[in-house]
Amino acid sequence: MSTVLITGAARGLGLDFVKRFAARGDRVIACARDPEAAALRAVAGDVRRHALEVTDYGAVAALAKTLAGEAIDVLICNAGIAGREATVLGSIDPAVWRETFEVNTLAPLMMAQAFSGHVARSKGRKLVAISSRLGSIALADNGRYAYRASKAALNMEWKGLSLDLAGQGLICVVLHPGWVQTDMGGAAATLTIEQSVPAMVKMIDGLGAADNGRFLNYDGNELPW
Ligand SMILES: NC(=O)c1ccc[n+]([C@@H]2O[C@H](COP(=O)([O-])OP(=O)(O)OC[C@H]3O[C@@H](n4cnc5c(N)ncnc54)[C@H](OP(=O)(O)O)[C@@H]3O)[C@@H](O)[C@H]2O)c1
Repeated sequence: MSTVLITGAARGLGLDFVKRFAARGDRVIACARDPEAAALRAVAGDVRRHALEVTDYGAVAALAKTLAGEAIDVLICNAGIAGREATVLGSIDPAVWRETFEVNTLAPLMMAQAFSGHVARSKGRKLVAISSRLGSIALADNGRYAYRASKAALNMEWKGLSLDLAGQGLICVVLHPGWVQTDMGGAAATLTIEQSVPAMVKMIDGLGAADNGRFLNYDGNELPW
């Protein structure tokens, strides 16, 4: 039995992570802006719900204090936004850009900073960020400036964490969930949530020290930075 903390836990991939871990008896710390959301409340099992806006760094620090002494085997920084308005040159909106970076890039790092101690005292010691293939510079395509850059920067952060925290035995990985049918992915996405999340859970289960600092697809294949 592991303890797993998940951000953005009230819908999409985050909610399904909660369901999968809870269904097999893991202890889940589900963090959501609306912890009373019906879909999250309906999940059976050992699920503790906490209100968390991930860009409220005072709240992040307060939650870390509330959970002081807990060992968190897996921290999953899942909350993210698409930043769709800043998609093409000519329509770049600095406010959207800043918000996208705040949520997708700075907030996960602040979570890692606040909770790395909780993860370090666990057996699992896994620090996972849900990134995106769109953050790969090697696979770059046009458009989606804010989103792509925010995930590329997230990848760089996690690479840094993998080096900084290796001495404490932490395993830091960034995962691409595939293109998945969620509110963000849309109905045309190639994967269902049921095809993506169980595969990621299996992959997270199998992570070992040799995986520290890797960028992985939901099916376990390596992605180029
Ligand atoms: N779906 C895909 O195809 C795809 C592909 C690549 C990567 N990803 C990544 O996978 C992760 C999950 O995406 P998804 O597809 O599940 O998207 P989603 O259905 O749009 O859900 C996004 C989640 O993030 C939460 N969130 C957004 N801003 C937040 C904030 N400031 N504080 C706290 N929570 C916040 C949302 O909470 P609320 O309910 O409160 O809004 C929601 O739970 C994201 O990091 C995304 O970039 C998704």
